[in-house]
Amino acid sequence: MFPPTADPGLVPGPLKLSRSAGAFTLDDTTAIRVSPGAAPAAALLRALLAPATGLPLPLAPDGRMVLVLDPGLTGLGAEGYGLTVSGEAVLLRAACAAGLRHGVQTIRQLLPVAALAAEPVRGVRWSLPGVEITDVPRYAWRGAMLDVARHFQPVSFLRRFTDLLALHKLNVLHLHLTDDQGWRMPVTAFPRLTEVGGVPHGGAYSREELRGLVAYAADRGVTVVPEIEMPGHARAALAAYPHLGNFPERRLGVWRSWGVCDTVFGVADEVLDFCRTVLDEVMDLFPSPRVHVGGDECPHTEWHRSPAALRRVADEGLAGPDALHGWFMERVGSFLTDRGRRPLGWTETGHDLPESFTALAWRDERHGLAAARRGQPVIMAPHRSTYLDYPQSSLPGEPPGQAGPAVGLSAVYATEPAPAHWETAAAAQVLGTQAQLWTEYVATAAHAEYLAFPRLCALADTAWSGGRDWPGFQARLHHHRSRLDALGVPSRPPAILRPERTTR
Ligand code: ACM
Repeated sequence: MFPPTADPGLVPGPLKLSRSAGAFTLDDTTAIRVSPGAAPAAALLRALLAPATGLPLPLAPDGRMVLVLDPGLTGLGAEGYGLTVSGEAVLLRAACAAGLRHGVQTIRQLLPVAALAAEPVRGVRWSLPGVEITDVPRYAWRGAMLDVARHFQPVSFLRRFTDLLALHKLNVLHLHLTDDQGWRMPVTAFPRLTEVGGVPHGGAYSREELRGLVAYAADRGVTVVPEIEMPGHARAALAAYPHLGNFPERRLGVWRSWGVCDTVFGVADEVLDFCRTVLDEVMDLFPSPRVHVGGDECPHTEWHRSPAALRRVADEGLAGPDALHGWFMERVGSFLTDRGRRPLGWTETGHDLPESFTALAWRDERHGLAAARRGQPVIMAPHRSTYLDYPQSSLPGEPPGQAGPAVGLSAVYATEPAPAHWETAAAAQVLGTQAQLWTEYVATAAHAEYLAFPRLCALADTAWSGGRDWPGFQARLHHHRSRLDALGVPSRPPAILRPERTTR
Protein backbone atom coordinates (compact mmCIF):
# COMPACT_ATOMS: atom_id res chain seq x y z
CA MET A 1 0.00 0.00 0.00
CA PHE A 2 1.24 3.49 -0.82
CA PRO A 3 2.04 5.72 2.17
CA PRO A 4 -0.41 8.69 2.25
CA THR A 5 2.06 11.08 0.65
CA ALA A 6 3.68 8.75 -1.85
CA ASP A 7 3.24 9.21 -5.58
CA PRO A 8 1.57 6.08 -6.92
CA GLY A 9 3.90 6.01 -9.92
CA LEU A 10 1.29 6.09 -12.66
CA VAL A 11 2.50 5.67 -16.25
CA PRO A 12 1.55 7.71 -18.14
CA GLY A 13 1.51 10.41 -15.49
CA PRO A 14 -1.88 12.05 -14.95
CA LEU A 15 -2.57 15.72 -15.62
CA LYS A 16 -3.51 16.41 -11.98
CA LEU A 17 -3.19 14.12 -9.01
CA SER A 18 -3.48 14.82 -5.31
CA ARG A 19 -3.29 12.26 -2.55
CA SER A 20 -5.82 12.15 0.24
CA ALA A 21 -6.11 10.22 3.46
CA GLY A 22 -7.79 6.86 3.52
CA ALA A 23 -7.91 3.92 1.21
CA PHE A 24 -10.65 1.89 -0.43
CA THR A 25 -10.33 -1.86 -0.14
CA LEU A 26 -11.92 -4.19 -2.66
CA ASP A 27 -13.15 -7.52 -1.33
CA ASP A 28 -15.72 -10.19 -2.11
CA THR A 29 -18.53 -7.86 -1.07
CA THR A 30 -17.52 -4.95 -3.31
CA ALA A 31 -20.00 -4.14 -6.05
CA ILE A 32 -20.02 -1.70 -8.94
CA ARG A 33 -22.79 0.79 -9.63
CA VAL A 34 -23.00 2.03 -13.23
CA SER A 35 -24.84 4.83 -14.98
CA PRO A 36 -26.39 4.03 -18.37
CA GLY A 37 -23.59 3.28 -20.84
CA ALA A 38 -20.95 2.52 -18.22
CA ALA A 39 -21.51 -1.26 -17.97
CA PRO A 40 -18.81 -2.10 -20.58
CA ALA A 41 -16.20 -0.28 -18.47
CA ALA A 42 -17.33 -2.27 -15.41
CA ALA A 43 -16.99 -5.48 -17.43
CA LEU A 44 -13.49 -4.46 -18.47
CA LEU A 45 -12.49 -3.73 -14.87
CA ARG A 46 -13.88 -7.08 -13.75
CA ALA A 47 -12.12 -8.95 -16.57
CA LEU A 48 -8.79 -7.25 -15.89
CA LEU A 49 -8.86 -7.87 -12.14
CA ALA A 50 -10.35 -11.37 -12.10
CA PRO A 51 -7.25 -13.48 -12.92
CA ALA A 52 -5.17 -12.24 -9.96
CA THR A 53 -7.81 -11.15 -7.45
CA GLY A 54 -10.71 -13.50 -8.18
CA LEU A 55 -13.01 -10.66 -7.07
CA PRO A 56 -16.56 -11.05 -8.44
CA LEU A 57 -17.27 -7.26 -8.59
CA PRO A 58 -20.97 -7.68 -9.53
CA LEU A 59 -23.16 -4.82 -10.65
CA ALA A 60 -25.48 -3.56 -7.88
CA PRO A 61 -27.57 -0.40 -7.42
CA ASP A 62 -25.87 0.31 -4.09
CA GLY A 63 -22.31 -0.52 -5.25
CA ARG A 64 -19.58 1.64 -3.74
CA MET A 65 -17.47 1.66 -6.87
CA VAL A 66 -19.37 4.07 -9.08
CA LEU A 67 -18.77 4.41 -12.82
CA VAL A 68 -20.54 7.36 -14.42
CA LEU A 69 -20.77 8.14 -18.11
CA ASP A 70 -22.04 11.71 -18.38
CA PRO A 71 -21.81 13.37 -21.81
CA GLY A 72 -22.55 16.68 -20.05
CA LEU A 73 -19.20 16.66 -18.25
CA THR A 74 -17.09 19.43 -19.69
CA GLY A 75 -13.33 19.72 -19.93
CA LEU A 76 -12.61 15.99 -20.15
CA GLY A 77 -12.89 15.64 -23.93
CA ALA A 78 -13.26 12.26 -25.63
CA GLU A 79 -10.70 10.46 -23.49
CA GLY A 80 -10.36 12.29 -20.17
CA TYR A 81 -11.70 11.08 -16.83
CA GLY A 82 -11.95 12.08 -13.20
CA LEU A 83 -11.27 9.62 -10.39
CA THR A 84 -11.88 10.08 -6.69
CA VAL A 85 -10.91 7.38 -4.22
CA SER A 86 -11.80 7.80 -0.55
CA GLY A 87 -12.28 5.38 2.32
CA GLU A 88 -15.97 5.13 1.46
CA ALA A 89 -16.16 4.98 -2.30
CA VAL A 90 -14.55 5.05 -5.69
CA LEU A 91 -16.04 7.46 -8.22
CA LEU A 92 -14.91 7.29 -11.85
CA ARG A 93 -16.48 9.78 -14.25
CA ALA A 94 -16.04 10.52 -17.93
CA ALA A 95 -17.93 12.18 -20.76
CA CYS A 96 -17.19 9.32 -23.18
CA ALA A 97 -16.62 5.57 -22.97
CA ALA A 98 -12.92 5.96 -23.85
CA GLY A 99 -12.38 8.10 -20.76
CA LEU A 100 -13.95 5.44 -18.53
CA ARG A 101 -11.65 2.81 -20.02
CA HIS A 102 -8.58 4.92 -19.29
CA GLY A 103 -9.83 5.43 -15.74
CA VAL A 104 -10.17 1.65 -15.38
CA GLN A 105 -6.47 1.33 -16.32
CA THR A 106 -5.62 3.93 -13.67
CA ILE A 107 -7.55 1.97 -11.03
CA ARG A 108 -5.60 -1.11 -12.10
CA GLN A 109 -2.29 0.72 -11.67
CA LEU A 110 -3.32 2.10 -8.26
CA LEU A 111 -3.90 -1.40 -6.86
CA PRO A 112 -1.00 -3.48 -5.48
CA VAL A 113 1.08 -4.67 -8.42
CA ALA A 114 0.03 -8.28 -7.81
CA ALA A 115 -3.35 -7.28 -9.30
CA LEU A 116 -1.69 -7.45 -12.72
CA ALA A 117 -0.63 -11.08 -12.37
CA ALA A 118 -2.10 -13.68 -14.70
CA GLU A 119 -2.50 -16.25 -11.88
CA PRO A 120 -4.52 -16.08 -8.62
CA VAL A 121 -2.64 -14.26 -5.86
CA ARG A 122 -3.63 -14.90 -2.24
CA GLY A 123 -3.09 -12.88 0.92
CA VAL A 124 -3.03 -9.43 -0.68
CA ARG A 125 -5.20 -6.58 0.59
CA TRP A 126 -6.60 -5.08 -2.64
CA SER A 127 -6.51 -1.45 -1.55
CA LEU A 128 -6.63 1.72 -3.61
CA PRO A 129 -4.94 4.77 -2.05
CA GLY A 130 -6.97 7.95 -1.52
CA VAL A 131 -6.57 10.11 -4.63
CA GLU A 132 -8.21 12.87 -6.59
CA ILE A 133 -7.26 12.66 -10.26
CA THR A 134 -8.26 14.72 -13.28
CA ASP A 135 -6.66 13.35 -16.38
CA VAL A 136 -6.85 14.40 -20.03
CA PRO A 137 -4.46 13.36 -22.82
CA ARG A 138 -2.37 15.87 -24.69
CA TYR A 139 -2.64 14.09 -28.05
CA ALA A 140 -5.43 12.06 -29.60
CA TRP A 141 -3.13 9.68 -31.53
CA ARG A 142 -0.91 7.65 -29.24
CA GLY A 143 0.19 4.56 -31.04
CA ALA A 144 2.51 1.69 -31.68
CA MET A 145 3.22 0.06 -35.02
CA LEU A 146 4.00 -3.64 -35.03
CA ASP A 147 5.55 -5.17 -38.15
CA VAL A 148 3.96 -8.58 -38.51
CA ALA A 149 5.16 -8.93 -42.11
CA ARG A 150 8.90 -9.39 -41.56
CA HIS A 151 8.26 -11.88 -38.78
CA PHE A 152 4.74 -13.10 -38.24
CA GLN A 153 3.46 -12.69 -34.68
CA PRO A 154 0.60 -14.95 -33.54
CA VAL A 155 -2.71 -13.32 -32.72
CA SER A 156 -2.31 -14.35 -29.06
CA PHE A 157 0.66 -11.97 -28.93
CA LEU A 158 -1.30 -9.24 -30.71
CA ARG A 159 -3.92 -9.48 -27.98
CA ARG A 160 -1.31 -9.34 -25.26
CA PHE A 161 0.39 -6.40 -26.96
CA THR A 162 -3.00 -4.66 -27.20
CA ASP A 163 -3.45 -5.16 -23.45
CA LEU A 164 -0.04 -3.62 -22.85
CA LEU A 165 -0.92 -0.64 -25.04
CA ALA A 166 -4.19 -0.12 -23.18
CA LEU A 167 -2.39 -0.30 -19.82
CA HIS A 168 -0.34 2.67 -21.00
CA LYS A 169 -3.37 4.53 -22.42
CA LEU A 170 -2.03 4.09 -25.94
CA ASN A 171 -4.98 3.94 -28.32
CA VAL A 172 -3.66 2.84 -31.75
CA LEU A 173 -2.24 -0.51 -32.81
CA HIS A 174 -0.91 0.00 -36.33
CA LEU A 175 -0.42 -3.40 -37.96
CA HIS A 176 2.12 -3.48 -40.79
CA LEU A 177 0.48 -6.44 -42.55
CA THR A 178 2.40 -6.69 -45.82
CA ASP A 179 5.93 -6.16 -47.09
CA ASP A 180 8.53 -7.62 -49.42
CA GLN A 181 9.08 -10.51 -47.03
CA GLY A 182 5.50 -11.49 -46.21
CA TRP A 183 1.77 -10.96 -46.69
CA ARG A 184 -0.24 -11.75 -43.54
CA MET A 185 -3.86 -10.77 -44.27
CA PRO A 186 -6.08 -13.17 -46.22
CA VAL A 187 -7.80 -11.66 -49.26
CA THR A 188 -10.63 -13.83 -50.57
CA ALA A 189 -10.24 -12.60 -54.14
CA PHE A 190 -6.48 -13.28 -54.17
CA PRO A 191 -5.79 -16.42 -52.09
CA ARG A 192 -2.20 -16.75 -53.27
CA LEU A 193 -1.25 -13.60 -51.34
CA THR A 194 -1.12 -15.60 -48.13
CA GLU A 195 -0.59 -19.04 -49.73
CA VAL A 196 2.65 -17.78 -51.28
CA GLY A 197 3.34 -14.58 -49.35
CA GLY A 198 2.59 -16.04 -45.93
CA VAL A 199 5.10 -18.85 -46.07
CA PRO A 200 8.50 -17.35 -45.16
CA HIS A 201 9.00 -16.08 -41.63
CA GLY A 202 5.79 -17.32 -40.21
CA GLY A 203 2.24 -17.55 -41.49
CA ALA A 204 -0.91 -15.55 -41.93
CA TYR A 205 -3.99 -14.61 -39.94
CA SER A 206 -7.49 -15.84 -40.60
CA ARG A 207 -10.28 -13.34 -41.11
CA GLU A 208 -11.85 -14.54 -37.86
CA GLU A 209 -8.62 -13.87 -35.97
CA LEU A 210 -8.39 -10.35 -37.34
CA ARG A 211 -12.05 -9.60 -36.69
CA GLY A 212 -11.66 -10.97 -33.15
CA LEU A 213 -8.57 -8.83 -32.59
CA VAL A 214 -10.36 -5.68 -33.78
CA ALA A 215 -13.24 -6.34 -31.34
CA TYR A 216 -10.88 -7.23 -28.49
CA ALA A 217 -8.90 -4.04 -29.06
CA ALA A 218 -12.05 -1.90 -29.33
CA ASP A 219 -13.21 -3.19 -25.94
CA ARG A 220 -9.92 -1.83 -24.56
CA GLY A 221 -10.06 1.51 -26.36
CA VAL A 222 -7.49 0.56 -28.99
CA THR A 223 -8.12 1.10 -32.72
CA VAL A 224 -6.38 -1.36 -35.01
CA VAL A 225 -5.08 0.56 -38.03
CA PRO A 226 -4.24 -1.77 -40.96
CA GLU A 227 -1.39 -1.06 -43.35
CA ILE A 228 -1.09 -2.53 -46.84
CA GLU A 229 2.16 -1.44 -48.49
CA MET A 230 2.11 0.02 -51.98
CA PRO A 231 3.52 0.76 -54.51
CA GLY A 232 6.85 -0.37 -53.01
CA HIS A 233 7.54 -3.02 -50.37
CA ALA A 234 5.29 -5.26 -52.48
CA ARG A 235 7.52 -8.18 -53.46
CA ALA A 236 5.50 -10.79 -51.51
CA ALA A 237 2.41 -9.80 -53.52
CA LEU A 238 4.42 -9.93 -56.76
CA ALA A 239 5.74 -13.39 -55.91
CA ALA A 240 2.10 -14.49 -55.65
CA TYR A 241 0.80 -12.55 -58.69
CA PRO A 242 3.68 -11.67 -61.05
CA HIS A 243 1.36 -9.99 -63.58
CA LEU A 244 0.93 -7.09 -61.11
CA GLY A 245 4.59 -6.16 -61.54
CA ASN A 246 6.38 -4.10 -64.15
CA PHE A 247 7.71 -7.17 -65.95
CA PRO A 248 4.77 -9.61 -65.85
CA GLU A 249 6.68 -12.54 -67.33
CA ARG A 250 9.31 -12.41 -64.55
CA ARG A 251 9.03 -14.96 -61.71
CA LEU A 252 10.40 -13.94 -58.31
CA GLY A 253 10.17 -15.46 -54.88
CA VAL A 254 9.15 -13.71 -51.68
CA TRP A 255 12.17 -11.62 -50.73
CA ARG A 256 14.60 -13.31 -48.33
CA SER A 257 16.78 -10.23 -47.69
CA TRP A 258 16.16 -7.10 -45.64
CA GLY A 259 16.38 -3.58 -47.01
CA VAL A 260 14.76 -1.70 -49.87
CA CYS A 261 13.74 -3.88 -52.82
CA ASP A 262 13.67 -2.52 -56.40
CA THR A 263 10.67 -4.67 -57.31
CA VAL A 264 7.52 -2.56 -57.08
CA PHE A 265 3.94 -2.67 -58.38
CA GLY A 266 3.27 -1.82 -62.00
CA VAL A 267 0.88 0.96 -62.93
CA ALA A 268 -1.64 -0.87 -65.14
CA ASP A 269 -5.38 -0.49 -64.50
CA GLU A 270 -5.36 -4.09 -63.33
CA VAL A 271 -2.90 -3.23 -60.54
CA LEU A 272 -5.07 -0.40 -59.27
CA ASP A 273 -8.09 -2.71 -59.45
CA PHE A 274 -6.15 -5.25 -57.38
CA CYS A 275 -5.33 -2.58 -54.78
CA ARG A 276 -8.97 -1.49 -54.64
CA THR A 277 -10.17 -5.07 -54.18
CA VAL A 278 -7.65 -5.62 -51.38
CA LEU A 279 -8.64 -2.35 -49.73
CA ASP A 280 -12.32 -3.29 -49.94
CA GLU A 281 -11.53 -6.42 -47.93
CA VAL A 282 -9.35 -4.40 -45.55
CA MET A 283 -12.21 -1.98 -44.92
CA ASP A 284 -14.55 -4.90 -44.36
CA LEU A 285 -12.29 -6.27 -41.60
CA PHE A 286 -11.02 -3.04 -40.04
CA PRO A 287 -13.47 -0.26 -39.13
CA SER A 288 -10.57 2.15 -38.41
CA PRO A 289 -11.34 5.61 -39.83
CA ARG A 290 -7.79 5.76 -41.21
CA VAL A 291 -6.31 3.12 -43.49
CA HIS A 292 -2.56 3.05 -44.14
CA VAL A 293 -1.42 2.45 -47.71
CA GLY A 294 2.35 2.62 -47.28
CA GLY A 295 4.03 4.93 -49.76
CA ASP A 296 7.58 4.66 -48.38
CA GLU A 297 10.86 3.52 -49.88
CA CYS A 298 9.61 2.95 -53.41
CA PRO A 299 12.47 2.94 -55.93
CA HIS A 300 11.31 4.20 -59.34
CA THR A 301 13.93 2.34 -61.36
CA GLU A 302 11.50 -0.21 -62.79
CA TRP A 303 9.11 2.51 -63.93
CA HIS A 304 11.96 4.19 -65.81
CA ARG A 305 12.58 0.92 -67.68
CA SER A 306 9.04 -0.41 -68.20
CA PRO A 307 7.36 0.40 -71.55
CA ALA A 308 3.94 0.17 -69.88
CA ALA A 309 4.95 2.63 -67.18
CA LEU A 310 6.36 5.04 -69.75
CA ARG A 311 3.12 4.78 -71.73
CA ARG A 312 1.19 5.62 -68.57
CA VAL A 313 3.38 8.67 -68.01
CA ALA A 314 2.59 9.88 -71.53
CA ASP A 315 -1.14 9.08 -71.35
CA GLU A 316 -1.54 10.90 -68.05
CA GLY A 317 0.64 13.84 -69.09
CA LEU A 318 2.95 13.33 -66.11
CA ALA A 319 6.33 15.02 -65.85
CA GLY A 320 8.14 11.68 -65.83
CA PRO A 321 8.22 8.19 -64.25
CA ASP A 322 8.97 9.65 -60.80
CA ALA A 323 5.56 11.33 -60.85
CA LEU A 324 3.90 7.89 -60.98
CA HIS A 325 4.42 7.55 -57.23
CA GLY A 326 2.12 10.48 -56.38
CA TRP A 327 -0.25 9.46 -59.19
CA PHE A 328 -0.55 5.96 -57.68
CA MET A 329 -1.09 7.23 -54.13
CA GLU A 330 -3.67 9.75 -55.34
CA ARG A 331 -5.72 6.97 -56.86
CA VAL A 332 -5.73 4.66 -53.85
CA GLY A 333 -6.24 7.67 -51.57
CA SER A 334 -9.34 8.84 -53.41
CA PHE A 335 -10.69 5.28 -53.44
CA LEU A 336 -10.55 5.34 -49.62
CA THR A 337 -11.87 8.89 -49.34
CA ASP A 338 -14.85 8.02 -51.57
CA ARG A 339 -15.71 5.26 -49.10
CA GLY A 340 -15.58 7.51 -46.05
CA ARG A 341 -12.10 6.50 -44.88
CA ARG A 342 -9.02 8.67 -44.56
CA PRO A 343 -5.79 7.62 -46.29
CA LEU A 344 -2.66 7.49 -44.16
CA GLY A 345 0.86 7.09 -45.53
CA TRP A 346 4.53 7.33 -44.66
CA THR A 347 6.01 10.64 -45.72
CA GLU A 348 9.68 10.95 -46.60
CA THR A 349 9.83 14.58 -47.63
CA GLY A 350 6.66 16.16 -46.26
CA HIS A 351 5.32 16.83 -49.76
CA ASP A 352 5.37 13.41 -51.39
CA LEU A 353 1.85 12.36 -50.38
CA PRO A 354 -1.35 13.76 -51.88
CA GLU A 355 -2.88 16.44 -49.66
CA SER A 356 -5.82 14.22 -48.70
CA PHE A 357 -3.39 11.98 -46.77
CA THR A 358 -2.54 12.02 -43.12
CA ALA A 359 1.26 12.04 -43.02
CA LEU A 360 3.18 9.65 -40.82
CA ALA A 361 6.54 11.45 -40.66
CA TRP A 362 9.16 8.79 -40.09
CA ARG A 363 12.40 10.37 -41.22
CA ASP A 364 12.99 13.80 -39.69
CA GLU A 365 10.98 16.28 -37.77
CA ARG A 366 11.29 18.75 -40.67
CA HIS A 367 9.29 16.41 -42.93
CA GLY A 368 6.46 16.47 -40.44
CA LEU A 369 6.68 20.26 -40.37
CA ALA A 370 6.56 20.45 -44.18
CA ALA A 371 3.42 18.27 -44.29
CA ALA A 372 1.82 20.27 -41.46
CA ARG A 373 2.50 23.51 -43.34
CA ARG A 374 0.63 22.04 -46.33
CA GLY A 375 -2.32 21.60 -43.98
CA GLN A 376 -2.06 17.81 -43.68
CA PRO A 377 -2.77 16.07 -40.38
CA VAL A 378 0.55 14.75 -39.13
CA ILE A 379 1.59 11.90 -36.86
CA MET A 380 5.16 12.22 -35.73
CA ALA A 381 7.32 9.11 -35.85
CA PRO A 382 10.92 10.35 -36.29
CA HIS A 383 13.09 7.28 -36.49
CA ARG A 384 15.84 8.55 -34.21
CA SER A 385 13.44 8.65 -31.28
CA THR A 386 10.48 6.37 -32.03
CA TYR A 387 11.99 3.36 -33.86
CA LEU A 388 12.20 0.66 -31.24
CA ASP A 389 14.10 -1.78 -33.45
CA TYR A 390 17.26 0.22 -32.84
CA PRO A 391 19.14 -1.15 -29.82
CA GLN A 392 18.32 0.47 -26.48
CA SER A 393 21.94 1.13 -25.62
CA SER A 394 25.39 0.62 -27.02
CA LEU A 395 26.30 -1.59 -24.06
CA PRO A 396 27.53 -5.10 -24.85
CA GLY A 397 24.85 -7.70 -24.38
CA GLU A 398 22.03 -5.97 -26.24
CA PRO A 399 20.22 -8.46 -28.47
CA PRO A 400 20.80 -8.02 -32.22
CA GLY A 401 18.79 -5.18 -33.71
CA GLN A 402 18.66 -2.75 -36.57
CA ALA A 403 22.08 -1.29 -37.34
CA GLY A 404 22.47 2.25 -36.07
CA PRO A 405 23.18 4.20 -32.96
CA ALA A 406 21.14 3.32 -29.88
CA VAL A 407 17.76 4.91 -29.25
CA GLY A 408 17.82 5.23 -25.50
CA LEU A 409 14.91 5.65 -23.15
CA SER A 410 15.62 9.35 -22.69
CA ALA A 411 15.59 9.95 -26.47
CA VAL A 412 12.13 8.38 -26.72
CA TYR A 413 11.00 10.40 -23.72
CA ALA A 414 12.25 13.60 -25.36
CA THR A 415 10.20 13.05 -28.56
CA GLU A 416 8.22 16.24 -28.91
CA PRO A 417 5.35 15.68 -31.35
CA ALA A 418 5.08 19.42 -32.08
CA PRO A 419 8.45 20.99 -31.32
CA ALA A 420 8.38 24.41 -29.65
CA HIS A 421 9.85 26.19 -32.65
CA TRP A 422 6.95 25.19 -34.93
CA GLU A 423 4.41 27.91 -35.66
CA THR A 424 1.03 27.50 -33.97
CA ALA A 425 -0.85 26.61 -37.15
CA ALA A 426 1.60 23.80 -37.99
CA ALA A 427 1.59 22.49 -34.40
CA ALA A 428 -2.21 22.34 -34.55
CA GLN A 429 -1.94 19.78 -37.40
CA VAL A 430 -0.18 17.24 -35.15
CA LEU A 431 -2.49 14.39 -34.14
CA GLY A 432 0.12 12.74 -31.96
CA THR A 433 2.95 10.26 -32.14
CA GLN A 434 3.64 6.57 -32.35
CA ALA A 435 6.43 4.06 -31.81
CA GLN A 436 7.59 1.68 -34.57
CA LEU A 437 8.59 -1.89 -33.90
CA TRP A 438 10.03 -3.30 -37.12
CA THR A 439 10.80 -6.98 -36.86
CA GLU A 440 13.53 -7.91 -39.31
CA TYR A 441 15.60 -9.11 -36.37
CA VAL A 442 12.71 -9.89 -34.05
CA ALA A 443 11.49 -13.47 -34.38
CA THR A 444 9.85 -13.93 -30.98
CA ALA A 445 7.24 -12.19 -28.88
CA ALA A 446 9.66 -12.03 -25.94
CA HIS A 447 12.20 -10.17 -28.06
CA ALA A 448 9.51 -7.76 -29.27
CA GLU A 449 8.47 -7.03 -25.69
CA TYR A 450 12.08 -6.57 -24.63
CA LEU A 451 12.56 -3.95 -27.35
CA ALA A 452 9.25 -2.25 -26.61
CA PHE A 453 9.67 -1.91 -22.85
CA PRO A 454 10.30 0.35 -21.15
CA ARG A 455 10.67 2.62 -24.19
CA LEU A 456 6.95 2.40 -24.96
CA CYS A 457 6.29 3.67 -21.41
CA ALA A 458 8.33 6.77 -22.29
CA LEU A 459 6.42 7.34 -25.52
CA ALA A 460 3.10 6.90 -23.72
CA ASP A 461 4.12 9.39 -21.05
CA THR A 462 5.18 11.95 -23.65
CA ALA A 463 2.08 11.52 -25.80
CA TRP A 464 -0.36 11.55 -22.89
CA SER A 465 1.13 14.03 -20.47
CA GLY A 466 3.97 15.99 -21.97
CA GLY A 467 7.33 14.37 -21.44
CA ARG A 468 9.02 17.28 -19.73
CA ASP A 469 9.99 15.80 -16.37
CA TRP A 470 12.68 13.21 -16.94
CA PRO A 471 13.59 12.75 -13.25
CA GLY A 472 9.90 12.50 -12.33
CA PHE A 473 9.28 10.00 -15.13
CA GLN A 474 12.20 7.87 -13.98
CA ALA A 475 10.87 7.83 -10.42
CA ARG A 476 7.44 6.72 -11.64
CA LEU A 477 8.99 4.19 -13.99
CA HIS A 478 10.95 2.72 -11.11
CA HIS A 479 7.65 1.74 -9.52
CA HIS A 480 6.01 0.88 -12.84
CA ARG A 481 8.69 -1.68 -13.62
CA SER A 482 7.25 -3.89 -10.89
CA ARG A 483 3.95 -3.79 -12.80
CA LEU A 484 5.75 -4.92 -15.97
CA ASP A 485 7.39 -7.67 -13.94
CA ALA A 486 4.00 -8.80 -12.62
CA LEU A 487 2.79 -8.99 -16.22
CA GLY A 488 5.83 -11.05 -17.19
CA VAL A 489 7.14 -8.41 -19.62
CA PRO A 490 10.85 -8.99 -20.22
CA SER A 491 11.80 -5.31 -20.11
CA ARG A 492 15.41 -4.23 -19.80
CA PRO A 493 17.15 -4.71 -16.44
CA PRO A 494 17.00 -1.79 -13.99
CA ALA A 495 20.78 -1.43 -13.94
CA ILE A 496 20.64 0.12 -17.40
CA LEU A 497 17.80 2.47 -16.54
CA ARG A 498 20.08 5.34 -15.55
CA PRO A 499 19.87 8.54 -17.61
CA GLU A 500 21.80 7.78 -20.76
CA ARG A 501 23.88 9.90 -23.01
CA THR A 502 21.96 9.92 -26.23
CA THR A 503 22.95 10.66 -29.76
CA ARG A 504 20.46 13.54 -30.11
C1 ACM B 1 10.04 3.10 -43.00
O1 ACM B 1 10.81 3.00 -42.05
N1 ACM B 1 10.40 2.66 -44.20
C2 ACM B 1 8.73 3.68 -42.86
